[in-house]
Amino acid sequence: MAQRETWTTRAGFILAAVGSAVGLGNIWQFPFKTAENGGAAFVLVYLFAAVLIGLPTILGEFAIGRRAKINAVEAFDRLDHPAWTVVGGLGLFTGLWILSYYSVVGGWVIRYVIGSLTGGYFGDTAAYFGAVSVGWEAIAFHAVFMALTAGIVAFGVEDGIEKATKLMVPSVVVMLVGLAVYAFTLGGSGPAYGYYLSPDLGYLANNLGSVIPFAVSQAFFSLSLGMGAMITYASYIGEDESLPADGGLVVGLNTAIGVLAGLVVIPLLFVQFGTVPESAAGGGPGALFVSVAQAFANLGMAGRAVGALFFFVVLVAALSSAISLLEVVTSYCVDKYDWNRKPTAFGFGGALFLLGTLAAWDTAWLGWFDTLAYSVLLPASVLLGVIFVGWVYGPEAVDEIKQGSSADASVANLWIWWLRTVVFVGVFITLYLGVTSIYASPGLPFL
Ligand code: PHE
Repeated sequence: MAQRETWTTRAGFILAAVGSAVGLGNIWQFPFKTAENGGAAFVLVYLFAAVLIGLPTILGEFAIGRRAKINAVEAFDRLDHPAWTVVGGLGLFTGLWILSYYSVVGGWVIRYVIGSLTGGYFGDTAAYFGAVSVGWEAIAFHAVFMALTAGIVAFGVEDGIEKATKLMVPSVVVMLVGLAVYAFTLGGSGPAYGYYLSPDLGYLANNLGSVIPFAVSQAFFSLSLGMGAMITYASYIGEDESLPADGGLVVGLNTAIGVLAGLVVIPLLFVQFGTVPESAAGGGPGALFVSVAQAFANLGMAGRAVGALFFFVVLVAALSSAISLLEVVTSYCVDKYDWNRKPTAFGFGGALFLLGTLAAWDTAWLGWFDTLAYSVLLPASVLLGVIFVGWVYGPEAVDEIKQGSSADASVANLWIWWLRTVVFVGVFITLYLGVTSIYASPGLPFL
């Protein structure tokens, strides 16, 4: 077997992990989930979910990945718990499932970079979205996005992923800051900040039962948890690194970038509509592409440049996430069967492209794929992982967290205790609510 690669620098790993985390979840979903779930109240709960549930969970994945030093599926075998390989398998499956439609949305984003430059959607944003989001055109751009993803993964960890994300993540931050400042200077954006940043505690108290599971699932999706991505990336980390420090940085940066994306999107909507409009608050895959696009259209010529920049940022962020999803299965086949990296990446890319054509053909499918991922696959996979780390792998996981960290040993002990209690209960409830909601209305497109 070929010598296993490692990240060349600590920053290389952090940026790749942040690149995986920051994606359509932050820029496409987060602002609209916020709008649907009571504005700043949701932001507040999301912050708690990211720190109290997301951070301990990501540390669990890091501890599995670094100790096993192998892909997310075989990791369980390598840690001498072969029966738990099924958790890795579920993660792998969840990741592939998500990538199939993630790439469709990625394709829309490419289409919108072009549409901004040409002013294509400036006439009637809703009609434009309706025309390009489904059918042959959507399939063609989905193919382009998937090919780009496979192309980067084909180059491997050091030459492909590390180099690409080192460039991508800082550019995303710089461009988002620029756009947030720009939105701030526009007349009419003022009230957006109150809506976005000062929570309505009354709303929160009345809706806690729905806000919490949404916020927790959003934290999983956004932190790339439950899909083997963080296990895989951590398998390339050196022994002398502090996992708690790295985990804290990744969670902190991902959350900050999510909030930053909201500072672009929500003020743009306020400038345009004076509020977060129903079409956006109603969520749905088209929200960003209709409402935010309308805000650019209204800016006329300047809107072309700002719009192209915005969608380009989204594209870069989406690509750096998509590569981490494809890397999970690629590293598995390369490690286990000694397959050649390039054909493996393109082979799976091709197969997922085919699966994704369903979502590209009809947004009802896309919505269904997304709902199943959010409500069932993701929390189920995270829950199994938490049980594994908390009870099966327990003491060794604690050792692994201590390894390379200068923090007091009590930090690792507190971590595992927290994982077994708060995290376990929180994820369990999230899964329970997800399964019951799907059961109540399966919403299959063909029924
Ligand atoms: N975290 C990414 C996002 O927010 C999505 C993702 C999930 C990427 C899982 C990789 C693995 O868009």
